[in-house]
Formats: sequence, structure tokens, C-alpha cells
Amino acid sequence: MQTLKLTSSREDIQKAGEFLRQGKLVAIPTETVYGLAADALNGPAVARIFQAKGRPQDNPLIVHIADLAQIDPLVTAFPDSAQKLAEAFWPGPLTMILPKSERIPVETSGGLDTVGIRFPSHPVASAVIRAAGTPLAAPSANLSGSPSPTTAYHVEHDLSGKIEAILDGGPCTVGVESTVITLAEGTPRILRPGGITWEQLQAVLGQVEVDHAVLHQLEQGERAASPGMKYKHYAPKARIILVEGEPYVEYVNAHQGDGTAALCYREDCAALHVPSVSFGAAGDYASQARELFDALRHLDDMGARVVYARCPQPQGVGMAVYNRLIRAAGFEVLRID
Ligand code: TXA
Ligand code: MG
Repeated sequence: MQTLKLTSSREDIQKAGEFLRQGKLVAIPTETVYGLAADALNGPAVARIFQAKGRPQDNPLIVHIADLAQIDPLVTAFPDSAQKLAEAFWPGPLTMILPKSERIPVETSGGLDTVGIRFPSHPVASAVIRAAGTPLAAPSANLSGSPSPTTAYHVEHDLSGKIEAILDGGPCTVGVESTVITLAEGTPRILRPGGITWEQLQAVLGQVEVDHAVLHQLEQGERAASPGMKYKHYAPKARIILVEGEPYVEYVNAHQGDGTAALCYREDCAALHVPSVSFGAAGDYASQARELFDALRHLDDMGARVVYARCPQPQGVGMAVYNRLIRAAGFEVLRID
């Protein structure tokens, strides 16, 4: 299949909408990461997303809207808490898990009785949803297991020849996926940290829990609240080891070998004696989020085999950075002090 490259021109956005109405797959930019979109209400079209990505079929997709009026047919309840979060954070990088209606096909919900709804703030994402005239199911537009794509080039690398089109809207500004919060049962609970922080959610809702699996490895036999938590994620080819504590630079310099590399803060690069790739600056969580996935892909391009990574601080948006990196490392953490 020839993958058409589209721009964010008005004609190309209309073309993307037309493709989506026809049941085709189009990768689109959002403020978080690029998404691989299909008409969320068209089961066979959604099934092709799983094929193109090599995604396990029980892993549900998020449904993207461009107008609050689109929600009503998709869910059977929209509690007060959802209303408050929508007012505070939509459009933006927040996905709410709600009880699904019968309109959501089994392909989209992965067989669950809930559905994740997100209202992205990227103007091109909104324009494509409006042009399609239907809510769009869209997981991150990477091959399953690979780092999520933050540029059209990353999407092309993973999915060229497997999907109908890629719409290039430039690099993503948040860089990690949306925060996923469930409002479908009991106390609101974060299933995946992202661009909207725990502190921001607490400021609006009061009590908000963080699911155990956000910061810890699932125990054997423990049920994943979010199917995505149980799969290997964000993994480059190299073995990544998270190094926690100081002195990081001295530790890495003392352990260099063939194929060793560092995944570090910008400030570390000059003092390191091994090839290094930075993901943002120390203490600047937004820059770490924006640069992490590109840095992971870069390490593969360099042919790195063992990567000593700075262990980020799980605060603010840093919680999302920590959550992604610890999965990329397969939970291998080394404490050095
Ligand atoms: O920022 C984002 O959320 C991006 C952009 C494209 O919008 N999308 C994204 O989708 O990251 P995906 O499919 O790569 O990740 C969605 C995560 C998965 O871990 C999935 O298991 C979880 O959300 N999820 C989706 N629906 C769910 C549901 N009904 N219940 C629990 N978890 C759900
Ligand atoms: Mg994903």
C-alpha cells in the first residue's frame, strides 16, 4: 500500500476526513503524540488499526471528539466529576474512562463495558475530527511496543506502507500521551499519568487515587485496571537501566564498554565519556516529556546496546516521564548511593 503524505492545509484536512469516512486509516497529530485514527463507530475500520500496529485485540482504544455534544451517544453516564474535569481540562491531554453505550463497537472497546473519551486541543486534530464528521478511535501511531511517535517522521518509520495516509502537523508539544483517569467506579483513579498532573486533578476533584501499576510492576496474577499496563511498552532495542542516585555521571563513566550509551539530562552531556542522548533538562519536567520518545528512538539509530538512563523524578508531568521510562527499562533500576 502506498501511504499518502498530507499537510495541514485545508484541502488535505478535508482529504483526511474523506478517507476516514471511507473506513481508511490516517495518522494525525495531537498535542500529546501522533494518533492512528479510524472512524470509532466502524468496527471493521477499527480492526485494521490493530492489524497495522500489531496491537493485542483486548487493548481498548481512546475515542476522540471535537465537540462536547459528540459525547452523549457514546456513554451511558456523564457524572458530575466528568463535567468538572471537562470544564477544567478539555480540550487537552486528559482521557476519561466512562461507561460505554451500545454505539461503541467491540473492536473499539476491546470487549470492556467502558470507553475512554478524549477531546484533544491540537487544532489540526479537531479539524480532522470535524471533517470526518464522526468520533475517531486513535491509539498512538507506533508499532505496538515501540516508543510513541512525536513527529510524522516517527510514524512514517513505523507504519509506512501499512496505512492510507499520514498528516504532518509538526512535532507534538506535550510529548507523552494523555492522562487516563477512570470515573467508572468508586474514587477517581489515574490509570496512566500524562500531560494533566495528579495535582491538577486533585485541585478540581479533591480525592484522586493513582493506580498501583502506574509506578510499580504488576505482581504476578494482579489484574491490570487498564489493559495497556500489562504489555511491554516504549521499548527500544537496547537494554535500558535506570540509574537512581548520585553521582550519575561518574558512575556511567566508570562503567563504559562497547555499545554503552547514556540517556541523560542536557546538563550531563559534556561531562560524559560515552555517547549520550539527552531528554530535557534537570528539573524541567515539560522538556523531559517533550523529548523522551525521540531520545529513545535516537538510541536505536545509534546502535546502543546498554543504556544507563537518568532516573527522572516522578513529580508533576515528571510522573508520566518516570512511568514511560521505567517501562522502557523493563523495571530495571539500579540504586547507586
Ligand atoms: O494522548 C493519547 O492518549 C494518545 C493520542 C493519540 O490521543 N493516544 C493513546 O492511545 O495513547 P493508546 O491506545 O496508545 O493508549 C491508550 C491507553 C492504553 O493503555 C489502554 O489500555 C487504555 O488507555 N485504555 C483505553 N480505553 C480504556 C478503558 N476503557 N479502560 C481502561 N483503560 C483504557
Ligand atoms: Mg500507545
